[in-house]
Amino acid sequence: EAARKLFAGEVDFLKGVVAMDGLPPDNRIEVCFAGRSNVGKSSLINALTGRKGLARASNTPGRTQEINFFTLGAERYLVDLPGYGFANAPVNVVQAWQALLKAYLAGRVSLRRAFVLIDARHGIKAVDEEILTLLDRSAVTFQAVLTKADKVKEKDRAKVLEQVRTRLAKHPAAYPEIVLTSSEKGDGIATLRAIIAGLG
Ligand code: GTP
Ligand code: MG
Repeated sequence: EAARKLFAGEVDFLKGVVAMDGLPPDNRIEVCFAGRSNVGKSSLINALTGRKGLARASNTPGRTQEINFFTLGAERYLVDLPGYGFANAPVNVVQAWQALLKAYLAGRVSLRRAFVLIDARHGIKAVDEEILTLLDRSAVTFQAVLTKADKVKEKDRAKVLEQVRTRLAKHPAAYPEIVLTSSEKGDGIATLRAIIAGLG
């Protein structure tokens, strides 16, 4: 009920940030969405908020190049991060966003949970491990969210869940519950809303 109210209320784009000194004041509860390019971070924010064009989603990997802040109600921020692991951009550009991403994940005191999105077809990759290790070191609790569940057959889901569960067990900052989602079909969206609403 709290989740329904929260997500039925005001959601707005606040700003896109390209450097640490552009971050908004850290006086709200904040959750962020991290993950490889094209994994579905922006689409998930749109599905959660029920606002299709809120976060820009696209077929072109590397679409989100800034840290985008959205206000959710009066007390929370949803944060859409640039994707990592995308090779097809100029090296200096990639390095600049990776540096910003790392500084943000390691240094943001109001960050209550990092959702790390993993494509349900592929499981955890080496580039994901880098971020998970960074989150361990920063003592930021992270939670794995499998995306694009609609693209995986029911019978193949158990295998990827098992791979993710085994990998997470090695990370002290991992929250054990894995959420399987589809922004297209709506799977897991209510669960994720409840998790976000429940963070204090
Ligand atoms: P970057 O900003 O480039 O890092 O990408 P992103 O992680 O924000 O991904 P985005 O939300 O832009 O989605 C990438 C592509 O995947 C788009 O073509 C989406 O339509 C598609 N997509 C996202 N979520 C789902 C899903 O749940 N199911 C299916 N079938 N496609 C999805
Ligand atoms: Mg995006």
